[in-house]
Amino acid sequence: MTGKMKKSPDLIQGVVSGTCQPADVEVDLMSLRPGRLSEYIGQAEVVETLQIAIEAAKMRNEAIEHVLFHGPPGLGKTTLAHIIANETAGNLTVTSGPALEKGGDLIGILTHLSRGDVLFVDEIHRLPKTVEEFLYPAMEDYAVDFVFDKGAHARSHRIRLEQFCLVGATTRVGLLSSPLRDRFGIFRSLDFYCESDLVQITRRSAALLKIAIDTAGAQELSRRSRGTPRIVNRLLKRVRDYAQVRADGAITEDIVKTALLLEGVDEKGLTDLDRRYLKTVIDFYDGGPVGIEAIAATLQEETDTLVDVVEPYLLKTGMILRTSSGRRAAQIAYLHMGYPHQKKML
Ligand code: ADE
Repeated sequence: MTGKMKKSPDLIQGVVSGTCQPADVEVDLMSLRPGRLSEYIGQAEVVETLQIAIEAAKMRNEAIEHVLFHGPPGLGKTTLAHIIANETAGNLTVTSGPALEKGGDLIGILTHLSRGDVLFVDEIHRLPKTVEEFLYPAMEDYAVDFVFDKGAHARSHRIRLEQFCLVGATTRVGLLSSPLRDRFGIFRSLDFYCESDLVQITRRSAALLKIAIDTAGAQELSRRSRGTPRIVNRLLKRVRDYAQVRADGAITEDIVKTALLLEGVDEKGLTDLDRRYLKTVIDFYDGGPVGIEAIAATLQEETDTLVDVVEPYLLKTGMILRTSSGRRAAQIAYLHMGYPHQKKML
């Protein structure tokens, strides 16, 4: 899906084209996104880097340098691309690596960009190699080299582009080729949010949605959101429904606990899939070490889902360890899953 968004004075309004919207451009969740750097909670160093780069580019009347964001899903890569466009008053065009199948797809987008526009390419590590090669001169010289005909008749024609800013996002920076990675002037990794940042995000979203939530409720929700703002916003809506139907509408710690139990989210924020993953490593593979392909086959899940979605938080919290011989379950995983002891010594 590729969509162009017109600049708006404050918040970007929505995706203009495309019927099927991925999770992070769902209209509902979009409305909870901060539109300005000053509203952005957490990732203080990333925010400061962007503030400086944007201000410097404005002073020099240039487009901001190309930006690459790396990190697990839901931490704000797309949000920051929207913010960059807002802060620089550029139009935002949103696309993704897998959506750009041919060089022509990318050239069509690039040649329609105006000076100062922002092109956001999500999952940039999934860009086909042939398309990626068009990006090199586009990023470096603001030009694309178009080749007509083949063999002896081949002719190359250089098309000039306006100065634009490419914002790339990836969950797997290791899969990016070095020529592409090296062409980004700014490269920042987004980390999981701490509980106090998530509490602030919960409060901000609750205020926008006009939901009453007390401090203990916001803390409990934050503790169960895997360090991820997108999960905070999702769970907040589930808990809001529960509070409305089964209580008086106000969200308290007890309401959060009961509503999230129903959603299969436990006290550490682990979902059913997380627990199945841990159970597989512990029960099926005796705590590991076990290769990711074997875990994926046992769970009948895509390896990419496990690597991109499930493992980052389990690694962050020390529930699993990645060793050269495979994944191992750590002591806290055994305890969390209700096993008295680790079966094997690490
Ligand atoms: N909503 C989602 N992510 C947010 C963030 N980092 N700051 C404020 N609100 C958010």
